[in-house]
Amino acid sequence: VKRLYIVGTGPGAAEHLSPAARVALESCTDLVGYGLYTDLLGDISTGKNLHTSPLGQETERARLALELAASGRCVGLVSSGDAGIYAMATLVFELLDREAKAAWQCVEITLVPGITAAQAAASRVGAPLAHDFCAISLSDLLTPWETIEKRLTAAAEADFVLALYNPISSKRRWQLPRALQILSQHRAPQTPVVIARNVTRADESILVTSLAEVDAENVDMLSVVLIGNRETRCVGPWVYTPRGYAAKEPQH
Ligand SMILES: C[S@@+](CC[C@H](N)C(=O)[O-])C[C@H]1O[C@@H](n2cnc3c(N)ncnc32)[C@H](O)[C@@H]1O
Repeated sequence: VKRLYIVGTGPGAAEHLSPAARVALESCTDLVGYGLYTDLLGDISTGKNLHTSPLGQETERARLALELAASGRCVGLVSSGDAGIYAMATLVFELLDREAKAAWQCVEITLVPGITAAQAAASRVGAPLAHDFCAISLSDLLTPWETIEKRLTAAAEADFVLALYNPISSKRRWQLPRALQILSQHRAPQTPVVIARNVTRADESILVTSLAEVDAENVDMLSVVLIGNRETRCVGPWVYTPRGYAAKEPQH
């Protein structure tokens, strides 16, 4: 069969790759992905044809994966975290939609979920995502900043816990401070903020701070930033968002 697995490899360390992802990748003849992610796969990639490309060539990577699969290879297209979250999966469907090449129609596509950065980050500090939350990417490379700002404002007003992906990069410095400014208009200064960098990778660092004290200098493109809602609080080193059980318990 002509097969394409679109696989989320989890946030980093191999032990966070799901058994289903491992089985899928082991059955592949070819792996397509950004170099850093295929490196993190370790022994799974041994003996396979590796097609790595630099960041920023996502469409070409998706096209290559489809072409290889259509030519009869068993292909694994890998993304870190979950491949459906700010990652490669959607590019495959966009190509199928826009170009509808006959050769691609007979490729069997299977997606395998992975642990996304926000979940991995949350697990390091407690249960910050325990109530309604949303993910917003601060990258304005593909989305106009106006749209991002509207979503930030709406999420802040509606009291969602936020997970900010792509919070900062060497070329995008002002977006995170601006996002924090918007959040501060709707949330208390002591609202917990978590800066989780390289979660489950060798140089992981986790910083729990607050909306008033957060320093964008501690954040880079390998970080995800979690911002609590109006209920989110700390207990010792932990951060959690209550679901409301305390209010339901009988009063003593
Ligand atoms: C293009 S997005 C890819 C997201 C990925 N598909 C996922 O589900 O986690 C890249 C962003 O994900 C976040 N990220 C990915 N892996 C991470 C990790 N191990 N630790 C912290 N943040 C991570 C960062 O915000 C980074 O800028």
